Amino acid sequence: MITTAKRLDTIEEYYFSSKLREVRQLAAEGKPIINMGIGSPDLLPSQAVVDAVSLAMSDPNAHQYQSYQGLPELREGIANFYKKNYNVALIPAVEILPLMGSKEGIMHISLAFLNEGDHVLIPNPGYPTYTSVTNLVGAIPVFYNLTEHTNWEPDFEALEKLDLSKVKIMWIGYPHMPTGARGSLELFSKLVAFAKKHHILLVNDNPYSFVLNDNPISLLQVDGAKDVALELNSLSKTFNMAGWRVGMVLGNATCIDAVLKVKSNMDSGMFFGIQKGAIEALKSETSWFEEMNVIYKKRRVLTEQLAEKLGCKVYKEGVGLFVWAKLPKGITSAEKFIDEILHEKSIFITPGTIFGSNGEGYVRFALCVKEEKIDEAISRCT
Ligand SMILES: Cc1ncc(COP(=O)(O)O)c(C=O)c1O
Repeated sequence: MITTAKRLDTIEEYYFSSKLREVRQLAAEGKPIINMGIGSPDLLPSQAVVDAVSLAMSDPNAHQYQSYQGLPELREGIANFYKKNYNVALIPAVEILPLMGSKEGIMHISLAFLNEGDHVLIPNPGYPTYTSVTNLVGAIPVFYNLTEHTNWEPDFEALEKLDLSKVKIMWIGYPHMPTGARGSLELFSKLVAFAKKHHILLVNDNPYSFVLNDNPISLLQVDGAKDVALELNSLSKTFNMAGWRVGMVLGNATCIDAVLKVKSNMDSGMFFGIQKGAIEALKSETSWFEEMNVIYKKRRVLTEQLAEKLGCKVYKEGVGLFVWAKLPKGITSAEKFIDEILHEKSIFITPGTIFGSNGEGYVRFALCVKEEKIDEAISRCT
């Protein structure tokens, strides 16, 4: 028997990777599953994006290795997107690095900055990948609490009380996943000041700012943010391109250079056609977001009704691709709750616990389900 690396003992298979096997098995047995678990947009990218990738296929350069930093035109496109939508100026050559989805950026940033034993501040609840990657590189997750009492924002007094001497990276993400808390420039300013004071690399994971959110903001809007911060962004949810795997890391040029050092040893550039499609997507007019959000708004209204039918209390201020809701009084286990709904009503929703211990008592509904299906889910609960 060939033994696996010790680092594998620090993580488990990704929740959705194993739970969706169970959900698929139920569907294969004939159960009419409505999957409101994972946030994978079912809406299509624009036709212009699809045309751009088709056209790119006949370019003689299409099939060769591509630049480790992405096409200059893609970096320009990202810079224009940031200027237009967040009023953030970025230098395409040194402050922007395209990624194959923002998820890989979490690994690259961690590999670039963390030594074994370094501490990493991770939101609880938060995206599980921050924790698993921290463990994989031998660093130590230090969870900071987000609760409904602080509107899912960090409590700075509690943060200051922690031993921060070994903290190297702090992960934040607003709009926040899973709760949908918006964050604010005021919060970002405080976080930048905190990161500067304690010499921490602050990384904002920002893939949801265009979904059901009338005020998209970036951490990089804060004066001096580029001294200590990076931001991850992604085309997955903004342009319905989750399967394309296009993301980006932006900000401090020295840090971007360190990330490139890792990344250029990992892959050999992003497929030309995908870059061409991404360039087209980034040119989208505001009407693109407006049209997408008309659909998400209707879904959100219905999903809130479904949550309420299940006896849950919805976090109404949430933005982004999910509805976050508190379990009915007296029910304490989110996993037991979602399993009952899965087996009794064939509706799959995500237990808050996969995002950390502060997710206990909550569930998350993805808005990636057509209205008819949400209607059907509601009818199964009456
Ligand atoms: C908070 C958060 N960050 C990052 C990602 C990864 O997105 P991408 O598709 O860009 O890798 C997700 C995906 O669900 C997410 O929820």
